[in-house]
Amino acid sequence: MSDFTSNFWSIYVAGITLAGIIACALLLWLTSRKKIESAADNTTGHVWDVDLREMNNPMPRWWMWLFVITIVFAFAYLAAYPGLGTFKGQLGWTQVGEYQAEVDKANAELQPLYARFDSMKTEDIAADQAAMAIGERLFMNNCAQCHGSDARGSKSFPNLSDKDWLHGGTPDDIRKTIHDGRVGVMPPMAAAVGSPDDVRNLAQYVLSLSGSPHDSLKASLGKAKFTACAACHGMDGKGMTAMGAPNLTDDIWLHGWGEAAIVAMINDGKTNQMPAQAGKLTDQQINVLTAYVWGMSNKPGAAK
Ligand code: HEC
Ligand code: HEC
Repeated sequence: MSDFTSNFWSIYVAGITLAGIIACALLLWLTSRKKIESAADNTTGHVWDVDLREMNNPMPRWWMWLFVITIVFAFAYLAAYPGLGTFKGQLGWTQVGEYQAEVDKANAELQPLYARFDSMKTEDIAADQAAMAIGERLFMNNCAQCHGSDARGSKSFPNLSDKDWLHGGTPDDIRKTIHDGRVGVMPPMAAAVGSPDDVRNLAQYVLSLSGSPHDSLKASLGKAKFTACAACHGMDGKGMTAMGAPNLTDDIWLHGWGEAAIVAMINDGKTNQMPAQAGKLTDQQINVLTAYVWGMSNKPGAAK
């Protein structure tokens, strides 16, 4: 409700709720007062199907009381729980509060399980089978939707199983990435580069950095423009983890390979976000996940 600037809707909703309950009570009262004329043999004079006659018997009392109890319950409930517009209810119950209480309880139960890893080095946790089984489940539940169940990512979602890092691959870098999240920002650069031809030539030069097929004449024309990129990608194009700027000299393309993809990057830029997990996962869970991610590219035989 905090999205609204006046409490009109709050009053509107509360009004309809209360009017509904009061209307039920009124209906109950009015119908209980209505007297129906009946004949001496207690029939109302209504006849169906030749000889089916309606008797004038009142509803059982207990049945009436159920209605009354329902109405009393409605008022008691609305006093205790949030139901009347923005009124919070006497008990202060919220969905978020109930969820948080359950999460806290589960975390308290899991705490001893994780405690063993608190004092261990990332390298040692990564070698611990029980820890890696936990790490894998955490990854499947919290990370796989973006990075893939094999952690190899997809377009715009980085591969975590190789040694190519946007933001650094030391345990501390990875922990910070997971805990605080990261925002990779490549600003639109076309204005700094020049004409559309300049942009295409520069794209050819970028392709040449990784030894990809390219037009070497255009690449040589574009080379000088790369100074506009060096602040983040480095003069040699090898990238800079402090800026989250990727290495352009390898064959790993987060946002697509080829002249069109690179021209699009230069013209439009890109903002790419890894969401912070600190509010979702405990520090102990992040500790195990850090080792799980670190371990993927530091296992014997892992991809370079
Ligand atoms: C909503 C999608 C999303 C989810 C969920 C997500 N990530 Fe990410 N992650 C990203 C994106 C996008 C990036 C790239 C950020 C950038 O371009 O700077 C990223 C980057 C990273 C990086 C840095 C990679 C590098 O090269 O430096 C790590 C490590 C990482 N994620 C780990 C995780 C872990 C562990 C989880 C689960 C707890 C997770 N991510 C969940 C989207 C996600
Ligand atoms: C302010 C820093 C900054 C500048 C300047 C900059 N970039 Fe980037 N660039 C980035 C970042 C950060 C990313 C990664 C975006 C992300 O996290 O997804 C990136 C990504 C890219 C990519 C995509 C790489 C891939 O793997 O798909 C290309 C290509 C690229 N930049 C080319 C250039 C060129 C060419 C220039 C010069 C005109 C340039 N960049 C200037 C920060 C910069």
